[in-house]
Amino acid sequence: MGEELKGRAAVITGAGRGIGRAIALAYAEAGASVCCVARTRSEIDETAAMIAARGGQALAIAADVCELSAMESVFAAATEAFGGLDIVVVNAGANLTGDPVEESDPAAWERTVQVNLIGSYYTVKSAIPHLKARGAGKIITIGSGLGYRGNVGDSAYSCSKAGLWMLTRVLAQELKPFNISVNELIPGPVVTEMSGIVNRPDEGTPKGRFAAIGEWIKEPQDVAPLALFLASQPDIGPTAQSFSLMRRDR
Ligand SMILES: NC(=O)c1ccc[n+]([C@@H]2O[C@H](COP(=O)([O-])OP(=O)(O)OC[C@H]3O[C@@H](n4cnc5c(N)ncnc54)[C@H](OP(=O)(O)O)[C@@H]3O)[C@@H](O)[C@H]2O)c1
Repeated sequence: MGEELKGRAAVITGAGRGIGRAIALAYAEAGASVCCVARTRSEIDETAAMIAARGGQALAIAADVCELSAMESVFAAATEAFGGLDIVVVNAGANLTGDPVEESDPAAWERTVQVNLIGSYYTVKSAIPHLKARGAGKIITIGSGLGYRGNVGDSAYSCSKAGLWMLTRVLAQELKPFNISVNELIPGPVVTEMSGIVNRPDEGTPKGRFAAIGEWIKEPQDVAPLALFLASQPDIGPTAQSFSLMRRDR
């Protein structure tokens, strides 16, 4: 185990797979105790087991970020188990509709915003008292280039991520007096279940399309170093900023 986050405690939503799991493993590797949150019990248990197998400390709590009381219980349990809370990664996300507004399914549109924006709000709202109690902390929101760009069919996802970026900035101002920094991490295209990007370079696949415009197609573990950098900055370090791993103007 490393020393960079030794003695720190982190809660990571969406840590059952993809980017969230990669960040959970990296934080544990750097010495943090990690609470893994998602709805699928088997996936968060697996992330926690991977951490334990490497000698780290982990807790897995099944919860839906769209339920405020469940998120309050998550942070109470993590703080109790680890003796405090230092880092929150607001990562749980969904993209449930790719249809233009006119044809879109209202339920899928609303659920996408519910998970990505309202769920993020519930997550940070539940976390803040615990971070304040510690006297300092880091909140890292996982944003998207699509929160800055208007693409046909991406209205729900883009609106949710644009809202998350504004939440990040407002929260950064509110929490500055408490030594809690709040920054956005934009991964760019990553091979995960949600993105549908597959690890094949053929032209027809989403990966092929991103590669054609010169983007860096990442594996989830490629995002972890930036997440580690943000978690390990000093209390006086950056806040209200957006950090991107993309290669194009977002
Ligand atoms: N992959 C990309 O190219 C890309 C690019 C830019 C930004 N992002 C962002 O990166 C983040 C992670 O996405 P990913 O690509 O790693 O996707 P992923 O592999 O599908 O993982 C998503 C995680 O979020 C959890 N989750 C979804 N809805 C949830 C809910 N209501 N409550 C609790 N947990 C929930 C999932 O678990 P359960 O389903 O079991 O709950 C899963 O653990 C998202 O915020 C996404 O928008 C991804």
